[in-house]
Amino acid sequence: MKNKNLFLIVISILLLVLVACGGGEEPAAPEAPAVEEPAVEEPAVEEPAVEEPAVEEPVVELFGDPLRGGLLYDKWWKVTGADQPEEDHPLWATQDSNTRGPKDNWRCKECHGWDYLGVDGAYGDSSHTTGFTGVFHLAGTDANEILAMLMGSTNDDHDFSTVMDEQALTDLALFINEEMTDMSQFTSADKVPTSSDLALGEELFLDCADCHGPEGLAINFKTTVNGAEYPSGMAAGNPWEFMHKVRYGHPNTDMPSAVDVGWSIEEQAAVLAYAQTLPAIPIVASGGLLYDKWWVALGLDEPTEDMPLWATQDTNERSGKDTWRCKECHGWDYAGVDGAYSGGSHMTGFAGIQAATGMTADELIGWLNGTANADHDYSPYLDEAAMDMMVAFMQEGVFDMSSYINEDKTVNGDAAAGESLYTQGCTRCHGDDGKEIIFGDESEPEYVGTLANGNPWEILHKIANGQPGSHMTQGYEMGWSMEDLVNLLSYAQTLPAE
Ligand code: HEC
Ligand code: HEC
Ligand code: HEC
Ligand code: HEC
Repeated sequence: MKNKNLFLIVISILLLVLVACGGGEEPAAPEAPAVEEPAVEEPAVEEPAVEEPAVEEPVVELFGDPLRGGLLYDKWWKVTGADQPEEDHPLWATQDSNTRGPKDNWRCKECHGWDYLGVDGAYGDSSHTTGFTGVFHLAGTDANEILAMLMGSTNDDHDFSTVMDEQALTDLALFINEEMTDMSQFTSADKVPTSSDLALGEELFLDCADCHGPEGLAINFKTTVNGAEYPSGMAAGNPWEFMHKVRYGHPNTDMPSAVDVGWSIEEQAAVLAYAQTLPAIPIVASGGLLYDKWWVALGLDEPTEDMPLWATQDTNERSGKDTWRCKECHGWDYAGVDGAYSGGSHMTGFAGIQAATGMTADELIGWLNGTANADHDYSPYLDEAAMDMMVAFMQEGVFDMSSYINEDKTVNGDAAAGESLYTQGCTRCHGDDGKEIIFGDESEPEYVGTLANGNPWEILHKIANGQPGSHMTQGYEMGWSMEDLVNLLSYAQTLPAE
């Protein structure tokens, strides 16, 4: 009872107060018109009035990943998993100075530049020139408007919503809005790096070395030795592209983003300066690719006739291009008839080239240009640079495999120690189990495990030198010792063969 009474009293008091307030306002009302202040204050106090303009302005905050935007800017279909476009971009026909096809002309970078400056930057005067504007002037502007432009708001032909979902377009808009950076912080217009801190660059490049090797020579960005490109060449030839890759990574790879990792502008600049000082090509491993299949490595037409010396044997029944492969006569183990090719369908009876490691460059050139034997003449095919690679390979890349690989194809290596090397250099293409790329024909599919067990000499050669016509890791350039290479081979033998 007592509580109920209390409750009633409280309610009554509240009502009284309310009435009093309402009544109190009335007398004040006549005063209001005279003093203008309350009229001004009112909207400020009334919350809805403040919120309204916010809703009217199109400042919807966009959420996304600007770093992913950087990768999309590079080659969006590699990031989204979409098919590579097959028709020219609709805006491509509005210019005629850049003659590239659809696999390039749908890339944001192809029209707007690696420096984001379009015609006002590095693409102002090159085979990439389109005359199109850059996007750098949009940095810091409304991301919603940028997003609209990517959906065709200013030009129907610039509508990328047909090929990318809204999240991808949002990431791109955020990239342009907040992530793009001024490339002149890293390089001058004539490609001179702003940094001279080579010691810092060298230290940071150790992070790149895990994948690219200590000198950046383990992954060829191109698929041939002719016109090969490694970090050094890109840093010197296209520092803007190099810096874009360093900052955001390479689409569809695990390459880290320096921005994500937290490198300062000074650190990023130092890597560019250091990369320019690295060697241009791995000369020994390039020669190893030629030894394997020189016409693929050099991007040349394949030979059609038999190699002249072929007629001097009749045990190996192959014909045509195969008869021109150095390995076909001298073996994957460089031991010719004294090694794995001492029998079987590949036997020719020809000697190996292990003695070549002790020959001078002139003597070796003599073997390659027909001086030593007119029927052993590669000068119609191998130019001077290719001959030099061949020579370097024979002097430094050829070794005696018999101490590592036994006649029964078992390998004297430590498979457990090779596993991490496999993960580091092979998994990204061949998968954990070596089965992602299928060799051989469909009826008899072969995998890394199959080949490592079937022909360990061949695989050891390829682990060291790479695979002609691909971006395959060149083990000699990973900073791996001979023991490492053999351990890796041992591990490859543990992978499933079927
Ligand atoms: C085939 C060439 C081409 C490609 C590819 C291309 N653009 Fe454009 N972009 C243009 C042209 C041309 C304009 C100017 C269009 C107009 O308004 O007439 C433009 C305009 C823009 C604008 C507005 C610039 C301004 O100043 O108004 C932005 C932002 C933009 N592009 C971003 C991108 C992004 C991001 C990509 C990749 C998804 C991309 N573009 C791909 C040619 C291209
Ligand atoms: C986790 C492995 C990894 C690391 C670490 C790494 N990269 Fe890469 N990078 C790759 C792969 C894989 C590619 C794609 C190469 C190919 O197949 O063409 C690539 C591509 C590149 C490209 C462009 C190649 C092209 O074809 O356009 C450049 C330049 C580059 N890397 C430089 C660097 C630099 C400099 C660093 C260190 C700051 C670095 N990378 C760190 C794996 C890595
Ligand atoms: C059709 C088989 C065949 C092919 C292919 C072939 N060679 Fe030979 N090579 C021979 C024969 C046979 C000899 C020995 C010839 C002689 O004694 O006159 C020889 C000798 C050599 C020698 C000298 C070896 C020594 O110890 O004296 C070298 C070095 C050599 N070849 C390297 C190569 C290279 C590198 C390639 C690939 C560019 C190649 N060969 C392709 C058959 C071949
Ligand atoms: C950039 C991707 C890439 C990487 C990394 C790579 N490979 Fe390959 N590999 C290829 C390609 C492409 C082929 C050729 C496939 C074909 O001919 O069908 C190949 C071929 C091979 C072959 C078969 C050669 C033949 O034709 O007989 C073996 C074995 C092999 N790789 C092992 C390795 C090992 C071991 C590693 C790590 C040291 C490695 N690969 C790293 C792409 C790669």
